[in-house]
Amino acid sequence: MKLRSTLFSAALLTALPAVSALSKITRSGRFLYDDNGERFFIKGIAYQQQGQVTVTGAANPLGEPTTFVDNLADGAGCSRDLPNLQKLGANAIRAYSVDSTLDHDSCMNALSGAGIYVILDLTLPLNGSIDTTQPTWSTSLLNEYINTIDVFSKYDNVLAYNVGNEVLTASATSAAPFIKAAARDIKAYLTKIGSSALVGYADIDGPSAFRDAVAEYLACDPSNKNDGSTSIDLFGLNNYEWCGDAPTSTYNSINTEFENYNIVAYFSEYGSETCNPGVRPWTEVATLFAEPMAGVWSGGLAFSYFNATANNEQFGMVTLSSDNSTATTNQDFANLVAQYASLTALPNNPTQAAAPSATYTACPSEGTAFEASTTLPPTPNTDACECLSSALACQFVAKGDFTDVIGTLTGQVCSFLAQNGGSCADISANGTSGVYGTVSSCDPVTRLSYEFTQYYEATGRLSTSCDFAGNATLSTSSSVASSVSDAVSSCLTSPSAVFTPSASSGAPAASSPSGGSSSGSSSGGGSSGSGSGKGSGAVAVRVGVLTSVLVGVVGGVALVLA
Ligand SMILES: *[C@@H]1O[C@H](CO)[C@@H](O)[C@H](O)[C@H]1NC(C)=O
Ligand SMILES: *[C@@H]1O[C@H](CO)[C@@H](O)[C@H](O)[C@H]1NC(C)=O
Ligand SMILES: *[C@@H]1O[C@H](CO)[C@@H](O)[C@H](O)[C@H]1NC(C)=O
Ligand SMILES: *[C@@H]1O[C@H](CO)[C@@H](O)[C@H](O)[C@H]1NC(C)=O
Ligand SMILES: *[C@@H]1O[C@H](CO)[C@@H](O)[C@H](O)[C@H]1NC(C)=O
Repeated sequence: MKLRSTLFSAALLTALPAVSALSKITRSGRFLYDDNGERFFIKGIAYQQQGQVTVTGAANPLGEPTTFVDNLADGAGCSRDLPNLQKLGANAIRAYSVDSTLDHDSCMNALSGAGIYVILDLTLPLNGSIDTTQPTWSTSLLNEYINTIDVFSKYDNVLAYNVGNEVLTASATSAAPFIKAAARDIKAYLTKIGSSALVGYADIDGPSAFRDAVAEYLACDPSNKNDGSTSIDLFGLNNYEWCGDAPTSTYNSINTEFENYNIVAYFSEYGSETCNPGVRPWTEVATLFAEPMAGVWSGGLAFSYFNATANNEQFGMVTLSSDNSTATTNQDFANLVAQYASLTALPNNPTQAAAPSATYTACPSEGTAFEASTTLPPTPNTDACECLSSALACQFVAKGDFTDVIGTLTGQVCSFLAQNGGSCADISANGTSGVYGTVSSCDPVTRLSYEFTQYYEATGRLSTSCDFAGNATLSTSSSVASSVSDAVSSCLTSPSAVFTPSASSGAPAASSPSGGSSSGSSSGGGSSGSGSGKGSGAVAVRVGVLTSVLVGVVGGVALVLA
């Protein structure tokens, strides 16, 4: 039909493997299926170079990478690595952070041509993710996620977008409502733009009570109407419990735990270094992709193609030449190749026709061990927050990389407000009580200007109280409201209304000074962790990007940038 086809002889065409559009992967209940209705198992590898630690101290308490390498924007690197990924027989890779201002065509198209899907985390390091202990789900994060989706929605091989990686930990679960809200809003956005990509979350492993509660909560329906709109599609577990040539029974308890799960589960990372540093036998592959595991899990992603260090363990299966032109694979890689190659016929059970449809059960009850309310934060509303921002009398003067200063200043103004009979309740969000201040889902700059303006009013509009050592200034805009409460009532008429985020309202107006020193250097790739062997129950794996930054705790109100 197309002119180009005539360049191929009929003989050549018949000799070519059947190249067709990539199969669309869909979810039926708790399983994935391809266009032919066959079970789809994620058989892949994490693919992202580790970033660097450029921020230390309070802003990076865990010392995690704060920059990232966007490997999906590196066409030459992808061409270099594609033969290796094909040798592996990978049908999926996972990338942990991308820069939505870069061009990903070359790599994404090459991967698609090779039948390789991408599971893409939408998060960035530092303030580019929902924070573990001081979470918010704000316009700036929603816009960050949407900007990435807008860039990747044209590719046919995005299998899923992850809304978080290891945000929740066994000792900190109050961020769960924010993750569920992110899943809800991203799901709604994908539906709106006609994307069939799935929505996922990658969970750190831990005690079974924690693991189960997270899995159940992210897939439950708080309204008890069997409604999946706040559920993720794909629960990823970063699991490192298999050690060396472990017995098949290693996975017995995890398999039992997920036996009756209602959505897709898979290993979003696996491959412990503990027993066989550097040269893993990868014998878990044969167990993970066969019954009974195959009836519960949909495969997994080995960690990791590139080098990554965590807990003093070295992951990684290639060494790059100094000019990055070649990637030399190691024995660890060869072992994984052999294990993946030994998977010939994967179980196709149940068939798509026989797959039970999804049910969404009641949410786990909140308790001291799982501190997540079933009242979710509202959908961040960029239009409302921009309206509010322009109506505020006292404005934060944002300069350069303001991440640290905004935290310090928020702490200061909340302390001053408390001394003047006010509070920062309006900008605070609490996932345990399910109480979300009316301004809490606005971006950090708007939240700070809001508190500056409250303080300005609380001090009788003294111009000296809108200064903060040159960080605040009185607005000269004609849209300034006569009071904070007027600004709120004219801009935030329905602050808890849930609406579908749109691409246009998703475009951040003032908050994207790209080209500044932060662009291109902003985020973190897959760092990594390792399992502590089996048996102890408390597996400490810390993999992936740093979440965000605690910026201050004032009067019991914790403040964070996100
Ligand atoms: C990856 O790690 C191995 C083992 O530590 C090391 O030999 C190799 O040089 C590293 N490769 C790169 C590209 O850093
Ligand atoms: C190799 O790739 C890394 C990561 O993209 C990059 O930081 C480095 O500058 C590259 N080195 C060369 C010589 O191109
Ligand atoms: C993170 O902070 C930088 C400024 O330091 C800002 O430009 C960016 O919009 C923030 N990101 C989010 C998601 O809030
Ligand atoms: C959040 O709410 C819970 C339950 O009401 C409360 O115990 C906790 O102190 C609150 N957290 C903050 C930071 O205010
Ligand atoms: C802004 O606030 C920060 C933190 O309190 C302070 O270090 C700085 O001097 C202030 N002034 C300006 C103009 O940045």
